[in-house]
Amino acid sequence: MIESFEKIKNEALAEINECTDEVMVNNAKSKYLGKKSEFSSLMAGMGQLSNEEKREVGAKSNEVRTVISEALDSKLKSIKDEALNRKLEEDKIDLTLPSKKRHRGTKHPLTMVREEIEDLFVSMGYDVVDGPEVDSDMNCFEMLNLPKSHPARDAQDSFYITEEMLLRPHTSSMQVRSMLENVEKKPFKLICPGKTYRRDDDDATHSHQFSQIEGLVVGENISLSDLKGTLELFAKKMFGKDREIRFRASYFPFTEPSYEVDVSCFSCGQKGCNICKGTGWIEILGCGMVHPNVLRNCGFDPEKYQGFAFGVGIERVAMLKYGVSDIRNFYTNDYRFLNNFDRKEM
Ligand code: PHE
Repeated sequence: MIESFEKIKNEALAEINECTDEVMVNNAKSKYLGKKSEFSSLMAGMGQLSNEEKREVGAKSNEVRTVISEALDSKLKSIKDEALNRKLEEDKIDLTLPSKKRHRGTKHPLTMVREEIEDLFVSMGYDVVDGPEVDSDMNCFEMLNLPKSHPARDAQDSFYITEEMLLRPHTSSMQVRSMLENVEKKPFKLICPGKTYRRDDDDATHSHQFSQIEGLVVGENISLSDLKGTLELFAKKMFGKDREIRFRASYFPFTEPSYEVDVSCFSCGQKGCNICKGTGWIEILGCGMVHPNVLRNCGFDPEKYQGFAFGVGIERVAMLKYGVSDIRNFYTNDYRFLNNFDRKEM
């Protein structure tokens, strides 16, 4: 019997050695140690042996079972390890491969211009405030010295949502809001950038939606020369240090006196070109001294306090600065247009 066990062991070890996958190992297991194996039938015959023989054969059978089990286990482990290694090898990532180029976006030209203007005014101590795009008739017109019947409302024919609420036609509504808010805190100076809306037929220079920056300074002893100095700085910063500005008398119901401001043409050096339409000057914004009625409406005594205000169109500045001939380019999201402002590989 001992020899038979020894023979089983040798056969099993040889066969296990030849196994190349899990199925073969499992088959070998049942063939050599399973219920119907020769090993099991030898074990069954042990009952007839003497006690002495039983001890000897029992020890041998244990040894053979252990050896075969261990051989099966280690074979199975090496097959699994090999499979894992093969998989790792196949899935290997080549870190030396060049990566895909990622396209990096850039700021929209209107954002760039807005931020440039904000930076300038922040450096002069202005606050930057935000206001609602849907505002009341009261804030957009009434408080700004534009009663319901005022003909100047026609120029800003607007998107009404209810009788009283509308999409703001200018950021000047923020003059009212910020004066009411700052009645206690005088003096103050702020700018308010934001979107504005007017019922307009869209073409190369008109858009029903555009953006403005409102500027407002209120305090004691504020004069027109403060306004002029501020806007001169603005024009030089945005269009070049050699620029000059000129004030043309104009009319806005909420400022008195009111002006349109022109900047000397940066394109032709005032010789006359198609940008300045041969005049040497380009109109850039509207401004004036805050009307006493507006100050009064908002709780300021015009005998004591004065202020200046201005409103500049961001699209207009961006069009001039970057030579954009069609305002619609800013909104149509055409990649070919926006790419001109790309930082590329910066
Ligand atoms: N709100 C005016 C406009 O939209 C501009 C403006 C602002 C004029 C402030 C004077 C003072 O045309």
